[in-house]
Amino acid sequence: MFNVNEIRKKFPMFKVKMQGKRLVFFDNAATTFKPITVINNINKYYVLQTSNSQRGDYDLCYNVDKTILETRGLVAKFINAKTEEIIFTSGTTMSINLVAFGYGMYFLKSGDEILLTEAEHASNVLPWFNIAKITGAKIKFIPLTKDGRLTIKNVKKTVSKNTKIIAIALVTNVLGFYVPIKEITLFAHSKNIIVIGDGAQYVPHKRTNVLDLDIDFLSFSAHKMCGPTGIGILYGKKMLLEKMNPFLTGGGMNDSFDIKKNVVYLDPPEKFEAGTLNIAGIFGLKAAIEFLMKIGMKNIEEYEKKLRCYAINKMKKNKNIVIYNMGAEAPIITFNKKNVFAQDEATFLNSRGIAVRSGKHCAKMLDAFLKVAATLRVSFCFYNTTEEIDILIDALKEDNFLDVYYSK
Ligand code: ALA
Repeated sequence: MFNVNEIRKKFPMFKVKMQGKRLVFFDNAATTFKPITVINNINKYYVLQTSNSQRGDYDLCYNVDKTILETRGLVAKFINAKTEEIIFTSGTTMSINLVAFGYGMYFLKSGDEILLTEAEHASNVLPWFNIAKITGAKIKFIPLTKDGRLTIKNVKKTVSKNTKIIAIALVTNVLGFYVPIKEITLFAHSKNIIVIGDGAQYVPHKRTNVLDLDIDFLSFSAHKMCGPTGIGILYGKKMLLEKMNPFLTGGGMNDSFDIKKNVVYLDPPEKFEAGTLNIAGIFGLKAAIEFLMKIGMKNIEEYEKKLRCYAINKMKKNKNIVIYNMGAEAPIITFNKKNVFAQDEATFLNSRGIAVRSGKHCAKMLDAFLKVAATLRVSFCFYNTTEEIDILIDALKEDNFLDVYYSK
């Protein structure tokens, strides 16, 4: 049974106040709070199990290796992949760079095309700009519909015989629309195009099945799904990982090297994990996935949908609110208050104990599309409540921003 009050008890951050008020945290697309089990598991590594991995023949090291292996297996189960298809990275940004530099740089040539959308955030744009510069490949943008959706029709219209890669977020971080990913992979594969998915805003909110989606690569971050910062995942189809080159080289990823510069790399996933892993992060990630699995991704998705629906219905009644992604499926609402600059309103909401994001949200090409310089974004997590939404709705009705902020 999904019980939000029970769930909230597991998160120490709910004891924290902001501006002396009850903290209402609606910036979950940026990062999420961590349950105590995650914090305890990280502590367990530092307090009881500190050692490096794969480098020692003693119990501590053995226990660390065991946890890493179990976590890799758990992540694989969580997204329906094979264990050897799960690479630990520092987060989504690193995962996308790994594919861009490990795959794109070696397999793209001048004139090839990489397809993106204007709704992508920096991490899924800049690595591709770099790779295009290095290889001579071209960047093309798949047009969005009037309301900001990516459709299979527009994908088909944009693909040409030179298209080699489609790199898109499964859910973008500002508009929050789900893309028709299964249709895209089906079409792309019929043209020998690989599909690289950014799952940072998808995996934490929806049951993910990479086999069913038939996606070639998928990246996501632990910290957006109740895990620690500094640890993320790159999933890649085994066949593609075997072809791919390492982005980083060093310890932990090689089998041998000699004075004649002969080098033998380990097989994936270790081939892509040079250097000491973020072991504490892996301990935390394990507890985070266990936590999510215990609640159930279906329950999470349904509950977050209800929260969004509740908020949208109330926000719609406020004539001063302009919503930019009314029909989005993900628990994200992007909006503005008429005649108030987004960052000013966010500062006012802070004075009421409410944390939201404002600005461009790292999706810096989207303001031209939305025709607005900055927006406010609320993003929900399964630990949020309708009472918290009521606090936001009441604060949005207030129009005394200048009085509150400058009268101090
Ligand atoms: N991409 C993250 C966000 O949307 C940082 O806030």
